Amino acid sequence: MSVNAFGDHGPQHEKLGTVLSAIASGVEDIAQLLRSGQTSGEVGTVNSFGDKQLEVDIAADDIIFNRLKQSCAVATASSEERPKEITVGGQGYAVAFDPLDGSSIVGANFSVGAIFGVWKGDKLLGRTGEEQAAAAYAVFGSRTSLIVALPDPGATTGKTVQEYTLIHQPEGSVWKLTRDNIKITEKKVFAPANLRAAAENTTYRNLISQFILENFTLRYTGGFVPDVHHILIKGGGIFLNPVSPSAPAKLRLLYECAPLAFVVEAAGGASSNGTESILQLSITSLDLRTPISIGSKEQVQKSLGCLA
Ligand code: F6P
Ligand code: MN
Repeated sequence: MSVNAFGDHGPQHEKLGTVLSAIASGVEDIAQLLRSGQTSGEVGTVNSFGDKQLEVDIAADDIIFNRLKQSCAVATASSEERPKEITVGGQGYAVAFDPLDGSSIVGANFSVGAIFGVWKGDKLLGRTGEEQAAAAYAVFGSRTSLIVALPDPGATTGKTVQEYTLIHQPEGSVWKLTRDNIKITEKKVFAPANLRAAAENTTYRNLISQFILENFTLRYTGGFVPDVHHILIKGGGIFLNPVSPSAPAKLRLLYECAPLAFVVEAAGGASSNGTESILQLSITSLDLRTPISIGSKEQVQKSLGCLA
């Protein structure tokens, strides 16, 4: 793949294409690692959030750090596995990432993902999701897909969302643009995460009953990335992760929610923590967690009561 396959985005976004190409190369490396079949063993350590780390989490994390470093366009990087602002030596952007989202389902060979938020400058703390220059996520399923939300002054949201597919050819792999200008409208599909919260959170329980009575279709894998990806590709639906006293928020604002909210809102969908858009929330700590509802605008609006 050529270094600037993800384009030139004008002087305001100088080197953004270089950062996205580095992310794409890292995703290609992770896809290869997952396809090797040698990735189901746990190493038995925990990251600073208390999650069990798998060998594959650590390898994927190293892959992305190295690719970002090689790009020379990234000043600072931070990952769910290494939740610090780490200086990587380049200049231009700060990147936050979750190198392998879905550690609990990788053993069952479900689709897993990787998530990336890209900010101009060298800081992540104190920023908002809205300030991202671009965001991306990868889905490692029967194909490897890379979804990118980029600046596009001509689009109604000022951004465009594209899907690239990794095509394997004898002479090497290439990224092919397979969907352009992806849009989210309204669809009766729901993905109810953290359903344990519904035992105490009666508003959540009532909303689930409402979905059932309104003949919604359930699509839920237990992976944030594939569950949100389903909404994007089918053109609508809702993913929600409400909380309760004994089932608190797990999803991280910086590494998971802000980048996916950027993609979904760029496609014309919505995101909320119950009171405001996920993109308005200040990243006051690298490990800040949040309840989230994300997807079709009307559905997100209807779900606000069970998040707050
Ligand atoms: O910790 C994050 C995560 O694994 C997400 O990828 C996923 O959406 C969510 O948790 C699933 O939570 P639960 O299994 O409680 O529905
Ligand atoms: Mn994750």
